[in-house]
Amino acid sequence: MGLSRGSSQQTPAVAPPTTLFLFGAHGDLVKRLLMPALYNLFRDGLVDDNLHIVGVDHNAISDADFAKKLEDFIRQEAAGKVAEGGKEPLDAELWRRLASRISYVQGDFLDDSTYADIASKIESTGTSNAVFYLATAPRFFSEVAQRLGSSGLLVESEEAFRRVVIEKPFGSDLPSAVALNACLLKVMSEKQIYRIDHYLGKETVQNILVSRFSNGLFESFWNNHYIDHVQITAAETVGVETRGSFYEHTGALRDMVPNHLFQLLAMVAMEPPAAFGADAVRGEKAKVVGAIRPWSEQEALANSVRGQYAENSKDGKVVPGYRQENKVEPDSTTETFVALKVMVDNWRWVGVPFYLRTGKRMGVRSTEIAISFKPAPYAQFRDTEVDRLKPNFLRIQIQPNEGMWFDLFAKRPGPTLDMEDIELGFAYKDFFEMQPSTGYETLIYDCLTGDQTLFQRADNIENGWRAVQPFLDAWQKNPQVEFYKAGEDGPAAADDLLARDGREWRDIDV
Ligand code: BG6
Repeated sequence: MGLSRGSSQQTPAVAPPTTLFLFGAHGDLVKRLLMPALYNLFRDGLVDDNLHIVGVDHNAISDADFAKKLEDFIRQEAAGKVAEGGKEPLDAELWRRLASRISYVQGDFLDDSTYADIASKIESTGTSNAVFYLATAPRFFSEVAQRLGSSGLLVESEEAFRRVVIEKPFGSDLPSAVALNACLLKVMSEKQIYRIDHYLGKETVQNILVSRFSNGLFESFWNNHYIDHVQITAAETVGVETRGSFYEHTGALRDMVPNHLFQLLAMVAMEPPAAFGADAVRGEKAKVVGAIRPWSEQEALANSVRGQYAENSKDGKVVPGYRQENKVEPDSTTETFVALKVMVDNWRWVGVPFYLRTGKRMGVRSTEIAISFKPAPYAQFRDTEVDRLKPNFLRIQIQPNEGMWFDLFAKRPGPTLDMEDIELGFAYKDFFEMQPSTGYETLIYDCLTGDQTLFQRADNIENGWRAVQPFLDAWQKNPQVEFYKAGEDGPAAADDLLARDGREWRDIDV
């Protein structure tokens, strides 16, 4: 992550020479995110001609055709985004240089000969540092890791590192996550494993640490004396799109909570690390996620709401419900929305509820952390509207309107004491020129340079699953869902969850 002090900017070093193997080379992740991110790193001079990119997959394709396929896809994507004003077109000369570093190994992930071919490829690039990026279906994670291990490809030396990148999902419950970690750790050390949660590649998520720990002001009120509760929302407007069969077995809880939402919770709730190194930061994050109270099944039911979007019509157009989506059972009880209350049992947060909600096909796309402060201790302004003030919130907008805002009150000018909501804030776009980025740039760069700060450690993953396991168990016995209309902000029961505690969700806006 490379944090520097002061306003001066660090000049990041060029990543060391590496042979980067992309398993699942024909998949969406490689086309949509990894190659564009590698291109952006190349454009910014953070990787150079010493990076060799090798696709690995079962289809037969020549090196040149593979590079051309990626180019066509990225051009097409960029063209669409340029039209929307979001991305720069591909620079032909830059791409030509990058494309000359792209090659391909055809092979079955389960066949030992594939790994012999990978070893030969490393010989031929002459670059023995290697990263194996598993952009594959999760069922291959253990299989590929074992074969990388048994073929000797994970043996490091003074001159050469060997690293493995794994995408979520890291298991589908606590036992499978423990088993996956055990399997990985049989053939490599924790130092070689880079578990990606793409939320940690977002600038605003990283900024939470910088804001909290470089501005002394925050620490003075960042505790249960001043904070009433915390709301974490990840609202999406898209439905399940083409991922019906994946989503049927996953649902909103597994898809978003133990990973993305708990990462946001950890950033807000962790103790200051002793240093900004990987061990210290990840240690504090694991501790705070480990402090989430494990509910009994009954408590889990009482403290959760499962929702599913139902058909709705908008502007004369019918938006299908989840049960009408492709590859979804017509009587599916998979949740597309979840709202939870969790408690963090430690000195700083005891008594402060963390309310989490995430859903598909909601009204507005917004990922936000809203920290609600306790009211002023004494109502100075009796018999005025000041008496009935709403709570102050600190809102950290992760996306799309990246920045931070304090919701405060000010007196409206005039002879009467009328209050007005005002915002004190900082929008990223007003202060910084943001380069087009996928969010994967930082993560790939950090992996190439050996910085694990933004990657998930085994204990963090397992602590996350330990906290959600009671919900999974309780819902298995009580699989009913509450419906909400596509385009609405979740079912009414989600409001009741907070109303029972005398609180309400902040409106989802940006
Ligand atoms: C992914 C989930 O991990 O995160 C998707 O599998 C979800 O279902 C996505 O849409 C959300 O990511 P972002 O960056 O758009 O908030």
